[in-house]
Amino acid sequence: MTQKVRKAIFPVGGLGTRFLPATKALPKEMLPVVDKPLIQYAVEEAAAAGIEEFIFVTGRGKHAIEDHFDVSYELDQTLSDRGKSDLLDMMQSWLPKPGQIAYTRQMQPLGLGHAVWCARDFVANEPFAVLLADDLVMADTPCLKQLIDIHDETGGSVVAVMDVPSEHTDRYGILDIESDDGRLASVKGLVEKPAPADAPSTLSIIGRYVLRPEVFDHLNKQEQGAGGEIQLTDAMATMIGNSPFHGLRFDGRRFDCGDKVGFLEANIAFALARSDLGESVQEVLSRYTDEK
Ligand code: UTP
Repeated sequence: MTQKVRKAIFPVGGLGTRFLPATKALPKEMLPVVDKPLIQYAVEEAAAAGIEEFIFVTGRGKHAIEDHFDVSYELDQTLSDRGKSDLLDMMQSWLPKPGQIAYTRQMQPLGLGHAVWCARDFVANEPFAVLLADDLVMADTPCLKQLIDIHDETGGSVVAVMDVPSEHTDRYGILDIESDDGRLASVKGLVEKPAPADAPSTLSIIGRYVLRPEVFDHLNKQEQGAGGEIQLTDAMATMIGNSPFHGLRFDGRRFDCGDKVGFLEANIAFALARSDLGESVQEVLSRYTDEK
């Protein structure tokens, strides 16, 4: 029987330079899509996929994330005094239980592989998930749940993938495919940010992973890869051949919220999908499109 995926790592140590000045004093992961911070979407997705332990790899200036996932006594008291019990319930409904969240600091932003490695003692010897909050996925079945279902079938590692235009391969980890049924691709190699001419495919990894713990064997070596960073992709590549490794074309829509246009699109899409906002936002949008 495959081991249950119980733990998730949330690397939130990046600097978020593409969102300056907004991210000077505010972590990128706290930017809201409509009225909820990106990191909360990721934590809720993980909880809905059955995750029980939430491990944040943070950096300097990320205190707002810890405060967000803590009880705010004054706020709770004020809401209670004002009789706003619905709001109070909503504010408490998504908080993990005491002891379910752990924080560690990356200390130096040496790359995503390094951030994941920093959580190695929390994960120990079991399969685990990694979620990048700046990739926001709108899906009926949470994207991570889709990956965990494949892990439970295969016992191997699974990454969420999508086809990208060939001129964009140098922004992603790209799959070298052994076989492909149109949904699930069996992987024979991985390349980090290849130039379009060198890319083995256009299937790109987005920020959802379920990994076997052997990935730490390679991360322990602290080898630098593309861009001088310690790359998660390089460490994942060393596992291929020793255990199953698949890329899943997940059902759902992914928004690259690390990019301004992707972030704005996510705000529009999530607002349009809301029963309390959709109609008014549609009206506002048509005002702009009609003016063109
Ligand atoms: P990005 O490449 O988007 O970098 O990281 P960034 O610093 O967050 O943002 P920009 O490019 O400067 O605007 C992808 C993900 O990996 C995490 C980031 O927090 C983000 O979720 N990351 C990256 C780390 O946690 N540590 C690192 O050393 C690098």
